[in-house]
Amino acid sequence: MNEQVRAWVRAARHIVVLTGAGMSAESGVPTFRDAQTGLWAQFDPQQLATEEAFRANPSRVWDWYAFRREMIIKVEPNAGHRALAAFARRHPGRLTLITQNVDGLHQRAGSPGVLALHGNIFEDKWLDTPKSCCNAHAAVAGSPPYCDRCGNMLRPNVVWFGEMLPVEILAAAEDAARACDLMLVVGTSGVVYPAAGLARTAAGKVVIINPEPTDLDDTADAVLPGKAAELLPQLLED
Ligand code: APR
Repeated sequence: MNEQVRAWVRAARHIVVLTGAGMSAESGVPTFRDAQTGLWAQFDPQQLATEEAFRANPSRVWDWYAFRREMIIKVEPNAGHRALAAFARRHPGRLTLITQNVDGLHQRAGSPGVLALHGNIFEDKWLDTPKSCCNAHAAVAGSPPYCDRCGNMLRPNVVWFGEMLPVEILAAAEDAARACDLMLVVGTSGVVYPAAGLARTAAGKVVIINPEPTDLDDTADAVLPGKAAELLPQLLED
């Protein structure tokens, strides 16, 4: 099956790669639906990653993201991230990389133009529409930092459950999916929409790369049961 998929990769004029948390698993970032470790094991991300949770307990949610930032900053892109970046360098314009991950590892590996559907954990934005007094650089340090004039709080620039995805990034991802000859769906359980829906609208062949079954297997032309950092370098070499 790998040989068949390699042939599809070679023949495709436009490849879309859609990645999820499993893409970064071999870098040491725990996936969302894995058990979390340590202090935060008792918390369900779906209960923390909402505006409601932040408003109810800002420091708890801010501290959870601070913990994840500290964890992510220590890890490195893996061979899968590197293979995607190298392919894009060798074949400019042939690959569109769409990720649900907020960890920035694709960007650190050197992938250009990454469509980060769920934002970036290392950026902050204001919780409420900023007023003229809200200056992120002058925010009072805290958990979370806040504006000393109006009390507006900074929050991570990630898409929480129940929030809209960034409109232009989603539109670009949808256009790419509708125009591709091949979509590789890597390391996502396929349960979170609208990201998972991109696989269902792909114009071309769909290949799933995941050691476990996913909710998108029914839409796939091929399912490669394996790990991202092992399979991507094999599939993407010239
Ligand atoms: N290689 C490929 N896939 C892997 C690997 C690996 N080494 N290790 C685990 N996986 C797979 C798992 O089998 C699972 O299907 O990665 C998937 C991770 O699934 P989730 O944890 O559900 O992550 P994801 O699909 O990215 O979640 C989507 O949900 O919590 C929200 O906004 C968050 O972006 C996230 C979204």
